[in-house]
Amino acid sequence: MSNETDKEIAGHDYDGIKEYDNPLPGWWLMTFYGTIIFAFIYVIHYESGSGNTLKKDLEIAMAQIESVKTSTGPKVLDSEDVLLEKAKDPKLLVVGAENYQSKCASCHGAELQGMIGPNLTDDFWIHGKGNMTDIITTVRTGVPEKGMPPWEGILKNEEVLAVASFIHSKHGSKPANPKEPQGQKVE
Ligand code: HEC
Repeated sequence: MSNETDKEIAGHDYDGIKEYDNPLPGWWLMTFYGTIIFAFIYVIHYESGSGNTLKKDLEIAMAQIESVKTSTGPKVLDSEDVLLEKAKDPKLLVVGAENYQSKCASCHGAELQGMIGPNLTDDFWIHGKGNMTDIITTVRTGVPEKGMPPWEGILKNEEVLAVASFIHSKHGSKPANPKEPQGQKVE
């Protein structure tokens, strides 16, 4: 390609092949120099400046996850679908069963059949409809005036999720000597 600015370079003539001075287009050069300048700023910012490296970003994100997991305070709940998915985790169910037996069985029975507290395996629910979101909410806030303690601040978020998953997994398990139904039947 040639244009008016092309100049033949004097003396550069090899067996009839002449060399022309074809300057690179301005926009191309600007882009090229731009990338060089950008690279300098980038390296200085991330290597010796304040910019976080990817590793540091990951550390910050992991620390946030850890603090949400171990926190006992309120947090934005996942959607029911996400909770149901998490509730299938066998390891979580083991943690849930342990927490249930040590903290809940005294009132709800070792088989969740109900004693002081209601049967947690039947289709009847006093609070909500027995889905994960409802169970978690009741466990967190409790019903102090009816004798159900609030567990927020005692159980970690992860443990509330675990114990709720355990209860959810026992739905329809038909334990012996169930307590009479309480609340509304959920179809
Ligand atoms: C001191 C006794 C006691 C303990 C301990 C206890 N609960 Fe309860 N729980 C109750 C009572 C009583 C109710 C019924 C509240 C009402 O009538 O509104 C209840 C209700 C519930 C409900 C709602 C049931 C429904 O029909 O809506 C859930 C879920 C529940 N408890 C889970 C748990 C979990 C999980 C634990 C352990 C972390 C636990 N409870 C520990 C006494 C207890």
